[in-house]
Amino acid sequence: MLGRAPRHRWTAFTAVAMTGALALSACGGNGSKGNNDKSQVEVFSWWTGPGEADGLAAMKADFEKKNPGTKFVNAAIAGGSGTQAQAVLASRLQNRKPPDSFQGHAGAELLDYIKAGQIEPLDSFYDQNNLKSVYPQQLLQQISYKGHIYSVPVNIHRSNMLWYNPKILKDAGISDAPKSIPEFIADLKAVKQKTKNVPLSLGAQWTADHLLENVLLGDLGTDAYNALWKPGADWSSPAMTKALNDYAEIIKYTTVEAASTDWQGAAKAVVDGKAAFNIMGDWAYGYFVNPAPNGLAKKLDTDFKYAPTPGTDGTYLWLSDSFTLPKGAPHRAGALAWLKEVSSREGQDLFNPKKGSVPARKDADKSLYSTGYLKYAFEQWNNPATKLAGSFWHGVNASKKQHTDIDTAVGLFLQSKDVGKLQSQLVAAAKNSGQ
Ligand code: GAL
Repeated sequence: MLGRAPRHRWTAFTAVAMTGALALSACGGNGSKGNNDKSQVEVFSWWTGPGEADGLAAMKADFEKKNPGTKFVNAAIAGGSGTQAQAVLASRLQNRKPPDSFQGHAGAELLDYIKAGQIEPLDSFYDQNNLKSVYPQQLLQQISYKGHIYSVPVNIHRSNMLWYNPKILKDAGISDAPKSIPEFIADLKAVKQKTKNVPLSLGAQWTADHLLENVLLGDLGTDAYNALWKPGADWSSPAMTKALNDYAEIIKYTTVEAASTDWQGAAKAVVDGKAAFNIMGDWAYGYFVNPAPNGLAKKLDTDFKYAPTPGTDGTYLWLSDSFTLPKGAPHRAGALAWLKEVSSREGQDLFNPKKGSVPARKDADKSLYSTGYLKYAFEQWNNPATKLAGSFWHGVNASKKQHTDIDTAVGLFLQSKDVGKLQSQLVAAAKNSGQ
């Protein structure tokens, strides 16, 4: 069980500044302001697409059953990893038109909302629902600031997953998933030379950012990757130059799909027998195996297989989706009812098997994670020997500023293919990260 997760796994990765021992702030619990309107709840996320919407739908159905008087308004905005949703959210928050609850990643991303004074602390909600003991202490640290807790995590996702088509690998003479970046590059070359398939599928631009975090982790190793997110981190090292050259080499074997196909289009290319490999978080698993029409109803081992991304075995490149209570939420009581659903064992056990993630709570029904990839993920997550690294693209350890700057650098690189420029822009992004 997650409860046995030892401290060293969490202390191994860069805990963002929010975990620092800071004085208690004057803004207290969440009981004093707001309204008691429970007539509806507007829930903002980016789970609209095939696969990821299934988890939300399952939790929504349970919520509606338990809260018959509350109308669930799904304000999800399309765009994998929240690229579009976060821009819309930022302007709504700026204009003081917040939804009742919005999805935010645990870690640095949440810290940005906290520091901007956009979300309420949830201490009394945690106390009232006895939640402090059901989450791992170290996850609570990732959603706490100045002694207050600010969100309700629903899951743990894994970013460093390689999905591949076993038949194409066979055609290319590859016997097993690549275990290192050099092996990966050799395999991509073999697919290109020996088959007519795309070696590595890529979707919208953010999937190239996602690929970057995986190449950095695979090439630099867990400790050096985690060190990148500490204040004063050195992005100019020769090891980084090598990793970025490998990234440039890998990019040569990709087909960048139209932005509109997003991650789903790129992942689907693998199970449809068009691409050999895809690197994507484990939300791809839900998409692959969930029943039609949202899922692709594909079979593990026949239509696709999985492995940790090259060079990252033994490390969970983690991220956690959590929900918040924005300041000025128009239906505050509705929002608290939604957060209760998100925090519940039933809600999480309905959501996660469909989403391809494991529950954030420590007391999940293990039998629901006992087959296929979910079994692997559950065991890996709860294995004390597993190391942790935080996903920068999915909010754990890069501030929004650094996140945007890296995305800009990657976007320019995809045009120019200039590794030197990419590195100097990444160095500048780290320097100006505000961390
Ligand atoms: C991540 C999010 C996941 C999944 C993915 C693709 O940022 O945490 O839950 O939705 O984006 O959209």
